[in-house]
Amino acid sequence: MAKADTGMEKFPKKVKGEGGLTLTVRPMTHDDFDRVRAFFAALPSADRLFLRHDVTRPEVLARWFANLDYGQKLPLMALDGDKVVGHALLDGEQQGWSPHVAEVRVVVAQAYKQRSVGSLLARELFDIAIARGYEKIMARMMDTQPAAQKMFERMGFVVEARLAGHVKDLQGEQHDLLIMTCKLDDAWARMEELLADISPWALNQ
Ligand SMILES: CC(C)(COP(=O)(O)OP(=O)(O)OC[C@H]1O[C@@H](n2cnc3c(N)ncnc32)[C@H](O)[C@@H]1OP(=O)(O)O)[C@@H](O)C(=O)NCCC(=O)NCCS
Repeated sequence: MAKADTGMEKFPKKVKGEGGLTLTVRPMTHDDFDRVRAFFAALPSADRLFLRHDVTRPEVLARWFANLDYGQKLPLMALDGDKVVGHALLDGEQQGWSPHVAEVRVVVAQAYKQRSVGSLLARELFDIAIARGYEKIMARMMDTQPAAQKMFERMGFVVEARLAGHVKDLQGEQHDLLIMTCKLDDAWARMEELLADISPWALNQ
């Protein structure tokens, strides 16, 4: 469905946030191997749980880099200087009967949490998902991830499904898996409403 370059023309993009923080937002490229590895390796183990693949393992990361395909799975990063501080993925590779659905995943470095980095990346991916013609977007998380639930709720996502005891935490405890979804038209309207809150980030391209 998506072309690899749809929605990509605005990157790299510089944004300025509160407290003098300036970030660059751009897709992950082949040159980013070491900084992306450092980012994932530094994540708290609880945050790593939600990663689909163990990208702290070099061979797993290498496979990802070897198969970069922005049209199917777009990895978008926020960088503070040369350091990756947020990583997000728009995954359009759903089953054949859901070509209109994309999944979004976002993770932010511990020291940069609650500074709108997650919302910023999610918003960029929304923009691209709309440009690419997706109609619905979903996010998955454990019931014990209040930050993720709050962030997606604020964007207009609702919990559409709860799979009981479907996932395990680091201690092996079962938790419910929440599937939050949002129709992209609704999300865009809501994101526009929230713009004032989310834009501690000013465009500075
Ligand atoms: C979820 C996550 C990406 C949020 O990133 P972030 O940059 O800290 O989020 P933002 O600063 O944009 O905050 C968005 C909203 O969530 C709220 N929030 C953030 N952390 C929170 C926390 N620990 N508890 C409650 N609410 C929280 C923020 O307060 C904000 O809402 P508000 O403006 O009404 O206060 C980050 O916590 C993370 O990396 N978690 C681990 C990975 C994960 O769970 N990813 C989601 C599954 S795809």
